[in-house]
Amino acid sequence: MKLWGGRFETGPSEVFERFSNSLGFDRRLFQADILGSEAWARALERVGILSAGEREAIVDALEAIRAEGVAADAADEDIHTYVIRRLQERVGAPAGKIHTGRSRNEQVSLDVRLWLRQRIDAARASLLDLCDSLLALALRYPDAVIPGYTHLRRAQAVLWPHYLLAYFEMFARDWERLGEARARVNLMPLGSGALAGSGFPFDRDALARELGFDGATRNSMDVAADRDFVLDFLYAASLAMLHLSRLAEDWILYSSDEFGWLELGDEVTSGSSLMPQKKNPDSLELIRGKCGRVFGSLTSLFVTMKGLPLTYNRDLQEDKVPLFEAADDLAGSLEMARAVADSVRLRPERPAAAAEESWLVATDLAEALARAGTPFHRAHQLVGKLVLESVRQGKKPGDWSAAELAAFAPEFAPEMARLLDPREGMKTREIPGGTGPRAVARALEEARTRLAAMRA
Ligand code: ARG
Repeated sequence: MKLWGGRFETGPSEVFERFSNSLGFDRRLFQADILGSEAWARALERVGILSAGEREAIVDALEAIRAEGVAADAADEDIHTYVIRRLQERVGAPAGKIHTGRSRNEQVSLDVRLWLRQRIDAARASLLDLCDSLLALALRYPDAVIPGYTHLRRAQAVLWPHYLLAYFEMFARDWERLGEARARVNLMPLGSGALAGSGFPFDRDALARELGFDGATRNSMDVAADRDFVLDFLYAASLAMLHLSRLAEDWILYSSDEFGWLELGDEVTSGSSLMPQKKNPDSLELIRGKCGRVFGSLTSLFVTMKGLPLTYNRDLQEDKVPLFEAADDLAGSLEMARAVADSVRLRPERPAAAAEESWLVATDLAEALARAGTPFHRAHQLVGKLVLESVRQGKKPGDWSAAELAAFAPEFAPEMARLLDPREGMKTREIPGGTGPRAVARALEEARTRLAAMRA
């Protein structure tokens, strides 16, 4: 069965049918198509196209079709055609009225919005689960000190929870951003017709309410041409994947022999078929790898949309594979990242040793000098010289005594020697957003509260 054909003398060639078929992938919109069609049947009854009996027969049949699922061997043009054909087979004549005043152009928009809304809700829930796991991981080692990096060179000491809270912020923003995308997804397009608006007086607001939308779209031509809401999602998904890939990269490094801070659980790592000793971070590498695919989906749809003349063009059918793949990759990566976070063990003594043996305390010392009245530029120079001298003599910060410091430069007061311990310097960073222990404890508390509010 086709939803068109009267105007043609011969049917489509086998190659064209094969080439243009979308049922192979848009079958994923099956549930959404059924839901939309049931609402459409009720709308048709309200405008007098279907009798109550016809509407009931149609809705019952759609429910039965839903229960059966999409037949594996179906060869229809797309999921919309499939559902209507099945309806025809079940209820006969009344099925011929279901497409009254409706176009597949708006049906695609509706189905994708219904499908995507669910996937966004699931992704947002997974983001919160991941945030939960990050907070739990922070609280397993509340006092652990690690070197923070710039240029991948040891920079300043930070608390382990402070480091994890940085990712918490990124994922909280992703949760917000997906919520913003959802607001643009969650508008009801039916009533737009093919492009000019339907020829029947449907109550679009009632349809919107019935299908759980926040409202109805405003312009029929925009509906037929628009995939902004898919791009909004793909951008939000891309950014979430970017954050996941940075976390993955950090942990791949931190769990390497060279760093040796983290131990990833056996359950999220794999071995080598040849080298018996290997324990590889494949889960994290795949998250990093899938990130590239999601960027590809965003780029792919951008390029598809660029320069398309208004309104609908069949090019728009190419939105689905990138969208479906991106949604799957995001969902899978979030789930995987959470499992990795739950499996991670920190060896706090390793990053602590790294923090102590390098000059992470240099800034703390320079700032102490500045607080005591030395101009910062001079303080910076002085501590720089101290580091240079230490490098020459092979001394670590902890190898200096208060007396030696004072002998090196009179500006060093005796009480400044305690800053040679990186934990002491951190105490000067109690500013909100800083790594001071009290600031971090407060930030952890706030993160918990925020997470609870996001869940509510
Ligand atoms: N499978 C098509 C798509 O995904 C359905 C819309 C067909 N509309 C049309 N005018 N040919 O875009």
